[in-house]
Amino acid sequence: MKFSVLTIFPHMFDSVLNESILKRAIGKKIIEVELVDIRNFSKDKTHRIDRPPVGGGAGLIMQCQPIHDALNATKSPNSHVVLLSPRGKMYNQEIAKQFKNVDHLIIICGHYEGIDERIYNYADEIISIGDYVLTGGEIAAMSIIDSVARLKEGVISTESLDNESFENDLLEYPQYAEPYDFKGDKIPQILYSGNHLAIQKYRLYQSLKLTKELRPDLFAKHKLTKGEKKLIDEYAKEKIPKFEAEAIKKGIKFIKNK
Ligand code: ADE
Repeated sequence: MKFSVLTIFPHMFDSVLNESILKRAIGKKIIEVELVDIRNFSKDKTHRIDRPPVGGGAGLIMQCQPIHDALNATKSPNSHVVLLSPRGKMYNQEIAKQFKNVDHLIIICGHYEGIDERIYNYADEIISIGDYVLTGGEIAAMSIIDSVARLKEGVISTESLDNESFENDLLEYPQYAEPYDFKGDKIPQILYSGNHLAIQKYRLYQSLKLTKELRPDLFAKHKLTKGEKKLIDEYAKEKIPKFEAEAIKKGIKFIKNK
């Protein structure tokens, strides 16, 4: 998959693309990131790409011509053009999954006070990464590249993708790493039981509980299965339901020295 980013600050991407998982994904040729400097397309002698707003007002507005020409030079038959702007559709995991299937994603980063309104006509989609205003689209573009790249096959383990947040409109269950006791705060004993089915049920309940508490909007979208309803009932009746208590008891040898 190819990403082309139209930007006036290509160097902002240097460290992000040269570290960790994105670096590896690029090294393995699973993704390619092309940085297109909009300034190179300016017809101005001094490579200016912006002018004050017509009609007055603060700041500078990015002009149509350099962005338009940069886009024309970058487009391919399979490209999908995204313009980043606080006015766009809110980005989420669902959109990341759609972008994963695009061959060539072109991302236009706006800057300064804004871009000429007429540029919006050249985008297939307008995307925002949240209800706040960034100094430019670059950090939003990095978020999109990162979130899409990790979904591509071979970038991270498929197991990590199966249980993660937003799958099924649920947040991921809580995770722990040794030590067992950190300043009196202990890892739930069920996780030491060795009973994978009981651990799975416990984690599913935690995931449901966490989503209900922290993201009621997501929880409302989630369709509870029969099994999930039963699980919620079991935990409503007892703090530690029978299946969990039994799994802990059977795994007691392992738990004893904890
Ligand atoms: N540019 C400035 N703010 C932005 C935002 N919230 N999302 C996407 N692009 C932006």
